Order: sequence, then structure tokens, then C-alpha cells
Amino acid sequence: MTEKPTSGRGSRDLRVRVKTAKGRKLSSTLWLERQLNDPYVARAKREGYRGRAAFKIMELDDKYGFFKPGARVVDLGCAPGGWCQVAVPRVNALGANAKKPVGRVLGVDLQEVEPIPGAELHQLDFLADGADDLVKGWLGGRADVVLSDMAAASSGHKPTDHLRIVALVEAALDFAFDVLEDGGTFVAKVLAGGAENAMQQMLKQNFTKVANVKPPSSRADSSEKFVVAMGFRGRDRAAEESAAD
Ligand SMILES: C[S@@+](CC[C@H](N)C(=O)[O-])C[C@H]1O[C@@H](n2cnc3c(N)ncnc32)[C@H](O)[C@@H]1O
Repeated sequence: MTEKPTSGRGSRDLRVRVKTAKGRKLSSTLWLERQLNDPYVARAKREGYRGRAAFKIMELDDKYGFFKPGARVVDLGCAPGGWCQVAVPRVNALGANAKKPVGRVLGVDLQEVEPIPGAELHQLDFLADGADDLVKGWLGGRADVVLSDMAAASSGHKPTDHLRIVALVEAALDFAFDVLEDGGTFVAKVLAGGAENAMQQMLKQNFTKVANVKPPSSRADSSEKFVVAMGFRGRDRAAEESAAD
């Protein structure tokens, strides 16, 4: 592997080029090259975040302000932990600011997550039977913010990937309807592609404000976007809406 800045067109072209190596697929070479040249990957490393995903939730919270001191946050699909790392100080989960209320961050993922001070982490398949009840048990009450960055491993077939992510978002939304405090926030990754229209409708009925956002740190060539639904209208109303459907 060659990982050195190329001089290309003049000395300002500092892009790292990775040569193909025997046994490495072209897709892996391109992935490696993209990682090495991604400013968010470098920034995550510098600032101690576990991945570039941390900047997506940071940018969304900077814009919408849902992480408040004292907030109870559930992070579905939290590995390797970037979103939890951002949430912990913002909701004061470690009580570092004695003058502000202490929040809580509960993360769940299929994969094991290295401990994060201030976050409670559980390994769980959120689509398994009874998974939502388990999380509700750990939570022991309501949540102010439900996050979902859950994404299944890519199958390479876009429509299949899209349907999978919709199933994950729907499970997260069902859970949010059950546990969110009135006025609460739901943030989830979705893929642009059409199958989520019914979900958008449901969000608009049950939250006072729904935004579809592509934060600056989300790769331009990725079809991911995020829904930020704020001002949950309340459990009774959510139940009425689904009974009427
Ligand atoms: C893009 S990553 C999340 C990154 C995370 N937000 C961060 O900042 O580190 C998507 C995660 O969703 C998890 N995931 C996918 N399906 C899941 C499921 N059924 N239950 C729980 N987690 C799931 C994956 O294991 C993966 O870690």
C-alpha cells in the first residue's frame, strides 16, 4: 500500500492515493482512500470520537437543540459509540455541571460497545421479539429523546437495503411512541427512496415539527438523511392515530 500525499497538480494536492494491492478488491481500495482523505475521519481521531458519525448528531443538535441538560436519551444502534459520546456531556449525564440537572444516555446495539463513561450500554438485537420491552425495562420510565442510527449491513441491492432500514426506523418509531415524554424528540436515519412516505405522514400527525435534514458531515454520495421530529404530541394522541389507521 502506498499512502503518501501525491504532488499531482502542484504542491497543493495533498490527497492520499492508495495503490491497489494483490488480494485487495477495488471497492476496498476506494473505501480506504476515502477514509484517508475524509476530513471528518481525521477530526474524529483528533477529538477522540469513535467515528465520523459523531459529527452528524452534533450538527443536528446544534441546529435543533434537543440535547438539554437533564434529558433522558435512548440511542438505538449506538456502536461504536460516537452519538453517545456527544450526548453524555450535552445532557450532563456525568453530572459534571453541578448546577444543571443530570441526564441519562442509554445505548443499544447488536454489537458490543466499549464502555463510555456516563452511558449505559446494552448489546441487543432491537428487532428481536421482546427487545423493546427489555429496553423499556432498563429505561424504567419515559425518555425525552429517542435516536436511531440503526443500519443493517449493506446487501449491495439498494431496494433491499432501503426496506431494511425502513423496518429498523419503524421499530424505533413504535418504541418512541411508547416511551417518549410529551414534547419529546425522535431522530432517525432514513434513506431517500420513497418507501418512507407513510412514516413521514405519521410523524407529521404526532409531532409538532418534522424536518428532513442532510447534515454537512453526511457524505454527499450517500442516500442517507435524517428525520428530526420534535414536540411529541403525546401517547394518547399517538394511540388514537394508530387506532384510526
Ligand atoms: C451507522 S452505525 C451507528 C453509528 C453510531 N451512531 C455512532 O455514532 O457510533 C449503525 C449501527 O446499527 C446497528 N444495528 C443494525 N441493526 C441493528 C439491530 N437490529 N439492533 C441493534 N442495532 C442494530 C449496527 O450494529 C451498527 O452498529
